[in-house]
Amino acid sequence: MSARVIAIDGPAASGKSTVARRVASALGWVYVDSGALYRAVAWKALKDGINTEDAEAVGRLADVLNPEFEMRDGAVIFRVDGREPGMELRTDRVNASVSRVAAMPTVRERVSSWLRSLTRFGNLVMEGRDIGTAVFPNAERKFYLDASPEVRARRRHAEILAQDTKASERQVGESLRKRDLVDSTRVAAPLRVAPDAVVIDTTDLTIDDVVEKVLAMAGVKEQGGSCKNGKG
Ligand code: DC
Repeated sequence: MSARVIAIDGPAASGKSTVARRVASALGWVYVDSGALYRAVAWKALKDGINTEDAEAVGRLADVLNPEFEMRDGAVIFRVDGREPGMELRTDRVNASVSRVAAMPTVRERVSSWLRSLTRFGNLVMEGRDIGTAVFPNAERKFYLDASPEVRARRRHAEILAQDTKASERQVGESLRKRDLVDSTRVAAPLRVAPDAVVIDTTDLTIDDVVEKVLAMAGVKEQGGSCKNGKG
């Protein structure tokens, strides 16, 4: 029997990560953060001194990049060159270049094929921008989470304050706006709502509310399990 997939798409800081992790944990399915792989390509390009505006050079890098995937605590994690990039995927430099890298069709092809291969780990709850529209168009349930730009900037600001950053909420909002613009206007698999996705506006909802809604609509029996950490 082939693995089952729940797709959770939406713009940055709409609550996807935390909700997807919790839904995966409740169902006993495997959580996948697809954005981390686009970040890994951007991170490795920066590390190797590759110009992240050069689609050919970044495409060549993506072709030879060979992340090693494994499962840990109910989530798929990966190593590049034998180590986990971890928080290095979330630096300002990666934030500033990742949307451009993710817009490159060769990079998207490569990352999408890695993502499809992850069904070998079992049933997946995968979050991203194009999971329901392009990576798994036949996913059994698709959700699109959104929230007002102000609430998203506030959430992301609170998150990065915890990492000791000095950026203001306005600066965070501006950086999110720039990324959303590139993500939703690119030619290759732009961020958009799949026709068969359930849209949830999380502006005035708590994480618990959203998780409850998704689980109620997912139509999958819960298997229990606990959830640790999430990035928002
Ligand atoms: O979710 P995130 O902020 O970690 O995503 C990083 C970048 O990757 C962001 O610009 C959107 C892009 N992305 C994408 O294009 N498709 C996905 N499935 C996931 C992320």
